[in-house]
Amino acid sequence: MLQEFFTGTLREASPCVLETERLALRRPTLADVKAIARLANDRRIAENTRRLPHPYVQDDAVAFVRYTASEPRELAFLIECNFAPVGMVGINMTEPDAPELGYWLGVDHWGQGFGTEAARAAIDYFFEEFSHEHLFAGARVTNPASRNILEKCGFQWTGVELHRFEALGCSTPVDKFRLSRGVWSSLKHWGSSVRKAR
Ligand SMILES: CC(C)(COP(=O)(O)OP(=O)(O)OC[C@H]1O[C@@H](n2cnc3c(N)ncnc32)[C@H](O)[C@@H]1OP(=O)(O)O)[C@@H](O)C(=O)NCCC(=O)NCCS
Repeated sequence: MLQEFFTGTLREASPCVLETERLALRRPTLADVKAIARLANDRRIAENTRRLPHPYVQDDAVAFVRYTASEPRELAFLIECNFAPVGMVGINMTEPDAPELGYWLGVDHWGQGFGTEAARAAIDYFFEEFSHEHLFAGARVTNPASRNILEKCGFQWTGVELHRFEALGCSTPVDKFRLSRGVWSSLKHWGSSVRKAR
């Protein structure tokens, strides 16, 4: 059943699994809380994500799963590789005018392109499922890996803002980015050209 929110830009997202070349993205359940807590309990992750506490215990994962199950404006996907959880990607739509992409991966899974692959799947889902014209994201100014992901996905830098990070217990500068539907659509339709000798 579709549920209209705000000006019709946000609907209740249909439950589904997003598949990429190497990953499957699905809604987290209470059966995943142990794995989520094990992956998320690392200061290197918490210090780069606004809302993750540190240490991150199983009760935090239970609260997160319950919250995302009951709040349609908080889209969360558990990222799995070969059926093993490796991280999380989500889109926070609680601010109707500023839907925001976020993601993190367990440290053992960094550096293999999973962040980019999962972000692209979530972005496709967002623009295909909803009618918003823009998706927003932020990365700490000290986080080049996340900045790189956003730029590879077509996000454009819009400025720097101060944001509070739970694990830091203070505010810190964040590079803000915006991806427009037009840029996303253009990247998706950028076909290959052929060079021929004359
Ligand atoms: C950010 C994060 C998701 C990256 O995941 P990942 O799977 O390692 O990222 P990818 O491999 O897809 O791509 C990262 C890109 O940044 C580059 N990169 C990684 N570390 C870098 C660094 N220190 N300096 C510059 N570039 C860096 C990689 O080379 C890659 O670019 P390339 O494909 O052009 O080579 C992961 O580090 C993480 O979970 N960090 C903690 C949480 C976080 O920062 N979340 C984002 C906040 S919104």
